[in-house]
Amino acid sequence: MTALMEVAGVRRDFSLSRGLFARARTLHAVDGIDLTLEKGEVLGIVGESGCGKSTLARMLLGLLPPSAGRITLDGVDLAALGRRKLAARVQPVFQDPYGSLNPRKRIASIVALPLAVHDMGDAAYRRKRAIDMLERVGLPARFADSYPGQLSGGQRQRVAIARALVMRPEIVVCDEPTSALDVSVQSQILNLLMDLRQEFGLTYVFISHNLAVVEHIATRVAVMYLGRVVELAATAEIFASARHPYSQALLASVLTPEPGKGVPDNGLGLAFPDPLDPPPGCGFNPRCLYARPVCKATAPAAVADGAARVACHAYAPLYRKEFE
Ligand SMILES: Nc1ncnc2c1ncn2[C@@H]1O[C@H](COP(=O)(O)OP(=O)(O)OP(=O)(O)O)[C@@H](O)[C@H]1O
Ligand SMILES: [Mg+2]
Repeated sequence: MTALMEVAGVRRDFSLSRGLFARARTLHAVDGIDLTLEKGEVLGIVGESGCGKSTLARMLLGLLPPSAGRITLDGVDLAALGRRKLAARVQPVFQDPYGSLNPRKRIASIVALPLAVHDMGDAAYRRKRAIDMLERVGLPARFADSYPGQLSGGQRQRVAIARALVMRPEIVVCDEPTSALDVSVQSQILNLLMDLRQEFGLTYVFISHNLAVVEHIATRVAVMYLGRVVELAATAEIFASARHPYSQALLASVLTPEPGKGVPDNGLGLAFPDPLDPPPGCGFNPRCLYARPVCKATAPAAVADGAARVACHAYAPLYRKEFE
């Protein structure tokens, strides 16, 4: 496999002002991420709310510049590529299909808009391509002149997918694409995304809270915690034997609870830490069952373990002994 996209040392800070007299504080929403996106893969990204998944997604889409580091597509920095060229190759599907569709535009013109922006063909050609794509995603042509408000949630998400694909992009960044939908509709949309992946040879970044879904469709999984990737491994491997204590706890919660026994204890007793005030050392140490003094003192670098990568001192040759 070849890396289509490469994320190197990427950080994104947000400056939070606290009123007139207090100094602004800096939040590291993404705090040093290295990743590759290989052609044809489905890279799942999981982690608790606030760990920086959407911030990373927006940077991959060129919607938000990194504060530090570089994101490249086929070796070209996204900043140098420019928004229009990037949009032809990398497209989003977001959680809320209603918020992302202009309620005053008809469905066909919503889907055709990217073609218009890129000056492709005349209006009739663009409408035809839009309708072809709508049919491909399971919306009959009769919806072409409807408005988003006249569609169901699942149908609106199909429109968003048609709009994402109309330019024939290579990469689709899906940020919780089915979380706002009824359970019965979720699997239809997931199946559609997987069919389209085959048909158009797409590469996906797939962010989801639903670990069962990620297990089902991702080929590799990155587990994020406090703005960092703590583990990256093949899906089957990480679900069978996660290495990082955080991944172990998080992925254990994918198990369906036995009726009457409640949700399985995932071992994450303490609440997610305040990203404005992260703990020193490894960000996970206050919640970690295996934390040693070194974990409070230094942040672990990612180390290779087979084909996987894990940022935990227990796997670092230098500290491994302390965990035995
Ligand atoms: N524009 C912004 N200004 C200030 N802080 C922000 C901004 N966008 C995100 N953040 C903060 O950055 C951190 C990461 O947010 P992000 O939306 O990336 O998390 P997430 O992993 O997508 O969470 P969720 O699972 O809830 O969608 C959070 O603490 C969030 O409050
Ligand atoms: Mg998010």
